Amino acid sequence: VTAKSLALSEVMTKACDFYRQQLRGADRAIQYLKKRGVTGEIAARFGLGYSPDAWDSLRAVFADYGASALAEAGMVIDKSDDEGAYRKRYDRFRDRIMFPIRNTKGQVIGFGGRILDQGEPKYLNSPETPLYQKGLELYGLFEARQAIRDAGYALVTEGYMDVVALAQLGFPQAVATLGTACTPTHVQKLLRQTDHVIFSFDGDSAGRRAARRALDACLAHVNDNKVIKFLFLPVEHDPDSFVREYGADAFASEVQNAMPLSQFLIKEVSADNDLATAEGRAKTQFEAKPLLQQMAPSALRLQLVRNLAQITQSTAAEIEALFELSQ
Ligand code: CTP
Ligand code: MN
Ligand code: MN
Ligand code: MN
Ligand code: MN
Repeated sequence: VTAKSLALSEVMTKACDFYRQQLRGADRAIQYLKKRGVTGEIAARFGLGYSPDAWDSLRAVFADYGASALAEAGMVIDKSDDEGAYRKRYDRFRDRIMFPIRNTKGQVIGFGGRILDQGEPKYLNSPETPLYQKGLELYGLFEARQAIRDAGYALVTEGYMDVVALAQLGFPQAVATLGTACTPTHVQKLLRQTDHVIFSFDGDSAGRRAARRALDACLAHVNDNKVIKFLFLPVEHDPDSFVREYGADAFASEVQNAMPLSQFLIKEVSADNDLATAEGRAKTQFEAKPLLQQMAPSALRLQLVRNLAQITQSTAAEIEALFELSQ
């Protein structure tokens, strides 16, 4: 750890403490969290806070509001006019519910800030910094680590509120990719914690696309020891809204019925292709090829090859030759 990143982590910790303390007196923020069903206990567990409705509230925290570390940490924004003549600095996060993002050591490395009620952007996030790289970090992983071990699986969601609501209602093994695509690095990180991962994205089209990208991100890292599944919610729901509307038992039964990766892959490659025609079967093979090529030789890959052979009226040997699959 360099001296610079130490300074950044100090900025993040101090800001986090300040936002938490600000939440105590912030009636509108507390009302908003109550309206969303968030209890005080779970807010404390995730370190939720409030950034005051002012341009420079971090002046109260940092004796030197002009320090370069504040900008490097993404906590303030520096503006100059067209000629670059004057510079003014202001807090990035104002009048928002603050979600601290921690790394696996528990250090605060970034924030997400949600607007109270309506407005754009709904979430404002820390930029990438030397401490925070979005493709590497999973929101809630620090808080969820023991629960993932206890449950024997991890739930991967899209959003802050999904993680918080699931934890509150009995699924503390949830983490989130925070709207960015699930990367192979995310998958690797998860598979170091557990042999069983269940993706549970929003039921809308963006969530479905996210599931497809997660499938792609998993293929290079699955092996016969791992189980990866996909849970598809009704189109109008995300895990937060679903578990709050239908309850923990209903969500548990969705978990129980989640679709194994193998089934999702076959569904994806055959979707929109008419398997009653040679063209539809060929197109299915064409779409499956780049996916299976990412997989290491394994019993699971062989099962997929056989499955694909069956629905495309081919043999496993033909598929392996056509896909140039090494043994
Ligand atoms: N997101 C973001 N910026 C936005 C919208 C979304 O960074 N303007 C990220 C956030 O991490 C958010 C996730 O993408 O949690 C999922 O987005 P969405 O489903 O739209 O938000 P929700 O998490 O469902 O938010 P809420 O329930 O608070 O409306
Ligand atoms: Mn297991
Ligand atoms: Mn969404
Ligand atoms: Mn939501
Ligand atoms: Mn959502």
